[in-house]
This record gives sequence, structure tokens and C-alpha cells, in this order.
Amino acid sequence: MFITFMAVLLLFFMLPLSISASGDAFIGVNIGSDISDMPGSTEIVSLLKAQSIQHVRLYDADRALLLALANTGIRVTVSVPNDQLLGIGQSNATAANWVTRNVIAHVPATNITAICVGSEVLTTLPNAAPIIVSAINFIHSALVAANLDQQIKISSPHSSSIILDSFPPSQAFFNRTWNPVMVPMLKFLQSTGSYLMLNVYPYYDYQQSNGVIPLDYALFRPLPPNKEAVDSNTLLHYTNVFDAVVDAAYFAMSDLNFTNIPIMVTESGWPSKGDSSESDATVDNANTYNSNLIRHVLNNTGTPKHPGIAVSTYIYELYNEDLRSGPVSEKNWGLFYANGEPVYTLHLTGAGIIFANDTTNQTFCVTKSNADPKMLQAALDWACGPGKVDCSPLLQGQPCYEPDNVVAHSTYAFNAYYQKMDKSPGSCDFKGVATVTTTDPSHGSCIFPGSHGRKGTRTNGTSLAPSNSTSSGCLSQYHDNGGFFTSSLILVLLLCAVV
Ligand SMILES: *[C@@H]1O[C@H](CO)[C@@H](O)[C@H](O)[C@H]1NC(C)=O
Ligand SMILES: *[C@@H]1O[C@H](CO)[C@@H](O)[C@H](O)[C@H]1NC(C)=O
Ligand SMILES: *[C@@H]1O[C@H](CO)[C@@H](O)[C@H](O)[C@H]1NC(C)=O
Ligand SMILES: *[C@@H]1O[C@H](CO)[C@@H](O)[C@H](O)[C@H]1NC(C)=O
Ligand SMILES: *[C@@H]1O[C@H](CO)[C@@H](O)[C@H](O)[C@H]1NC(C)=O
Ligand SMILES: *[C@@H]1O[C@H](CO)[C@@H](O)[C@H](O)[C@H]1NC(C)=O
Ligand SMILES: *[C@@H]1O[C@H](CO)[C@@H](O)[C@H](O)[C@H]1NC(C)=O
Ligand SMILES: *[C@@H]1O[C@H](CO)[C@@H](O)[C@H](O)[C@H]1NC(C)=O
Ligand SMILES: *[C@@H]1O[C@H](CO)[C@@H](O)[C@H](O)[C@H]1NC(C)=O
Repeated sequence: MFITFMAVLLLFFMLPLSISASGDAFIGVNIGSDISDMPGSTEIVSLLKAQSIQHVRLYDADRALLLALANTGIRVTVSVPNDQLLGIGQSNATAANWVTRNVIAHVPATNITAICVGSEVLTTLPNAAPIIVSAINFIHSALVAANLDQQIKISSPHSSSIILDSFPPSQAFFNRTWNPVMVPMLKFLQSTGSYLMLNVYPYYDYQQSNGVIPLDYALFRPLPPNKEAVDSNTLLHYTNVFDAVVDAAYFAMSDLNFTNIPIMVTESGWPSKGDSSESDATVDNANTYNSNLIRHVLNNTGTPKHPGIAVSTYIYELYNEDLRSGPVSEKNWGLFYANGEPVYTLHLTGAGIIFANDTTNQTFCVTKSNADPKMLQAALDWACGPGKVDCSPLLQGQPCYEPDNVVAHSTYAFNAYYQKMDKSPGSCDFKGVATVTTTDPSHGSCIFPGSHGRKGTRTNGTSLAPSNSTSSGCLSQYHDNGGFFTSSLILVLLLCAVV
């Protein structure tokens, strides 16, 4: 059972990043921050821990978040935002300063494993294209000087739209306009054992295909054999868009004579909500895509061209980003709302992972760290008064009296209210001072409503939390999404991160 699964994972050794080496792929999550009620660093890290997310990518190098990620075992990819690229690409000293402040200051406590230099620069900021390679080289020199170049990889995520003629994959090539950038960049990646970083969005490929790409093919759903796409040059069969795009990238690299650079997918996902012209942005499709993607990646399936070669992938994204402009879908790529509630819960039971039943439905409502005590007191008074929560366990002599402070008491009352409201959306907010967690806040004889007690295999609500850094962690969390998108959908989340 799970023990065997762990044992298999423990057999994994860090191999040089060569395409001929096969390591286990991992799933990570992107953390965007265009959010009006951005959770604090502590809340973000609690969510990552509760979900056993072991790999994250940031779009910057936020100091507070990097500090909160220290000593958590979570692997972190930081980024040079596009608006800092020009300065860094034009000055070795600016690059060295960036590395000192944003990387050297945090390692080894925070396990920074990669630096993304810019984001989709060729397609979104083409004027900066000529300096990407010098930015990469300057940052690399600074890492070499700090003796960190072996443990921290450098690359620059590309949009898959720089690959032209991507089907059949064997005919794909990079838009030749960019050869003067791609060739030196690929040389750098090859010589430093880094990855080609690629953002892969079957959602957009499907949407822009005018019906040529079947939805099932985009969502990794089984296709009848006559619907599978076959590359007539290689006779390789493609059962999903994701693999076809990754193989197109391998072929595009071969076209430039680079055949041993591995690929890391820095973004992939599916929006759960869209406007009237985005009818395939639904909770069901988002759940199907991300669940199948996770299963596909963690199974180390590789691609038809390179079976068994790990293609580690970061899901886009942790939170819905309500402040993003554009169509409704732009704001709805997240697995979670800003308050930590899942938007939907992934179906991963087919992943060959078995998880304990008694962690089911265990979510709790607690006070946010750093909440204003006056607001807590007001919310506590409301919950025990108009909110009709039974606050008698908080009275002197009763099991939840100690510790006698507003944080502990409001946590009890908020959770009691949340459970009384059947965890309905919005019932764990209290004007922004409350947040959802999977960690049972019960202590001693103070058993919180919704707690299933402490017997059996339950371990703080995360049933299969990683026990050490080289193993995988999986968490199951059940959540009733009652009425928010679909009235009776109970979705199961199980996120696993391997190595
Ligand atoms: C940091 O992450 C790397 C890559 O996963 C791993 O090999 C290393 O052991 C980690 N370091 C620490 C201190 O956890
Ligand atoms: C850039 O700075 C590094 C130290 O951070 C130094 O080793 C390297 O020689 C410098 N490169 C150039 C081109 O000035
Ligand atoms: C190749 O890239 C150039 C520069 O961005 C762009 O103008 C051109 O349209 C691209 N070619 C194709 C076929 O997309
Ligand atoms: C790739 O290698 C082949 C054979 O050595 C050569 O003919 C071709 O010009 C090379 N292509 C590039 C882009 O360097
Ligand atoms: C997992 O990998 C095996 C081969 O390694 C393959 O036969 C199987 O179809 C894969 N499962 C999924 C869900 O990708
Ligand atoms: C979970 O519960 C179901 C039904 O009660 C049972 O068949 C299954 O064996 C349980 N699984 C575990 C891992 O306990
Ligand atoms: C989880 O809770 C919902 C209602 O809140 C209930 O219908 C469902 O059976 C519960 N699931 C499990 C596995 O206990
Ligand atoms: C559960 O939480 C308690 C208190 O926070 C901690 O001491 C314990 O180590 C945790 N157990 C696991 C398995 O994480
Ligand atoms: C990881 O944990 C397992 C089970 O707790 C233990 O047997 C193993 O020795 C640990 N491995 C490392 C590298 O600490």
C-alpha cells in the first residue's frame, strides 16, 4: 500500500539532469499574487503544508514569503519579474545585487532550487529578448561566485506559442526570428544541466482550434483509437495535447541540434469559470484537467518521444487572482480561494494512492494570524450572540476556557459557526479575520466541533504528510462545496508532490 509507494520513492537518487537519466517528476504550484485580499505569508505556508505541496514557483522573490518558507522543506523557484529584466541584463552589478538580496540572503534555510529569468519574454516583452541571455549569464556568474550554481538552476519560461508547426510534433521548430536568442540560451541550459522551461496550456490550444482539437484530447480523457492523433513521421500516438506540446518542444530543440535538454513545465492548468464565450471554463473541466495532469506527471509516464523521462510540472495556480484583467477565466485558474477554501477538490483516487478514510470532511475555521484583536473580539461577540453558536465550552471551568485569550476563544467560536453552517462558502470569513484550515485545532479535552477525534491514523488532518524530505506527501481533504458552483458536488482533493 502506501508504504510500498514510499519505498519506491526512496529508491530515487538525484541524478544529473540529463535527458537520459530518469528521475521522478514532481508536481508544484504557482503562487500568483494579483489578489485583493492576499493571504499573509503564514497563511500561504500553512495551506501549502496542509496540502503537502512540496514545490512552489513565485513570480518574484517576495521577502516575507521566502522567510516564511524557511525550514519547511518546500522547494522554491523564484523569478526575476519582467520589469527588472532590463536592469539585470544590462549590469553585472545589478544582477549580483539581485542574487545577493533575493537568493543568497535566504539559502539554505529556504530551499531555492531554480531562478526563472523573466516570464514569456519573447512573446510578451520582445524588446527585452536581446538581453535575456546576458541576464541569465550575469545571474549565473553571481551564483558561481556564491558557490550555489550546482544546486540552483537558471532558465527562462517560454510560451509554447514560440513553437511553430507544432503538430505533428516531429515537424515543430522554434519561431526562427528567435534563433539568435534560443541558440545561446539552449547552449547555456545544456552546459549547466538546466531545463527548457515551457508554459503549456491545452485550454488555449483547444479554444483556438475552432473545434479541431476534441475536448477529451485536451482534458486527457480516453479517446477511441481512431481519434488518437498519430504523427505520420514517427508513428507515435498522442492521446493528449499536453504530451504533443512537450514533444513538439523536444523536436524544436532537436531542430537546433540540442537533444539532451530536459523540459520542465512551469505553468499548466485550466480555469474553473469563464464568461459566456468561455463555456469550457467549468469546475468539472478544471478538476478533470488538473486531476489527470497530476496523475499523468506523477506516474512518470513521460511523453511518446521520451517515455519515462520526467516532465515536472507546476500547476497554474494556487489561488484565484481576482485582480487580473481580461476575461472572467483569467481570474479563475486557482485551486483555492484567497481564504484557503478549495475551489474544487481534485479526484485523484485512480493515482494508485490509498488514503485513510477518517480524515474525510475535516476542515476547520480558525483566526488568521495577525488579526486585529478588536475585530476578533467583535466577531467573537457576534458569533456567540446573533450567530447563535454554543459558546458554553468557553466559560470558566469548561474544557475550552484555557487558554483564556481572544485568539483561542474566537477560533473556537468561528469554527463552531462554520461547522453549524455546514461549512458553507462565506461562513468562515468574519470580515476577513478567519480562514479555513485542515489542521484540527482541538487541544487537550477541548474538542472542536467537526473534529473526528484523535484516534486511528489521523495525523493533523493531512493523512499522508511527508515524513522526510526525500519522500512524497499526499493529502486528502474532503470539502463540500455546497451550492457555490454546484449544489451537491463533493470533491476530493489529493495533491501529491514527489521529491
Ligand atoms: C533542497 O531541494 C533539493 C532538490 O529537491 C534537495 O536535493 C535538497 O536535499 C534540498 N535541501 C534541503 C536542505 O532540504
Ligand atoms: C560578473 O560578476 C561576477 C561576480 O558576481 C564575476 O565573477 C564576473 O566575472 C562578472 N562578469 C562580468 C562580465 O563582468
Ligand atoms: C515569429 O515571431 C515574430 C516576432 O515576434 C512574429 O512577428 C512572427 O509573427 C512570428 N511568426 C509566426 C509564424 O508566428
Ligand atoms: C545541425 O547539425 C546538422 C548536422 O551536423 C547540420 O547540418 C545543421 O546545420 C545543424 N543545425 C544547426 C541549426 O546548427
Ligand atoms: C502509468 O504508466 C504506465 C507505464 O509506466 C502506463 O502503462 C499507464 O498507462 C500510466 N497511467 C497513467 C494514468 O498515465
Ligand atoms: C475506506 O472506507 C471504505 C468503505 O467504508 C472501505 O471499503 C475502504 O477499505 C476504506 N479505506 C481505507 C484505506 O481505510
Ligand atoms: C462529507 O460530508 C458530506 C456532507 O457534509 C456528506 O454527505 C459526506 O458523506 C461526507 N463524506 C464522508 C466520506 O464522510
Ligand atoms: C500534529 O500537530 C502537533 C501539534 O501541532 C505536532 O506536535 C505533531 O508533531 C503533529 N503530528 C504530525 C504527524 O504532523
Ligand atoms: C524517511 O522516513 C521513513 C519512515 O518514517 C524512514 O524509514 C526513512 O529512514 C526516512 N528516510 C530518511 C532519508 O530520513
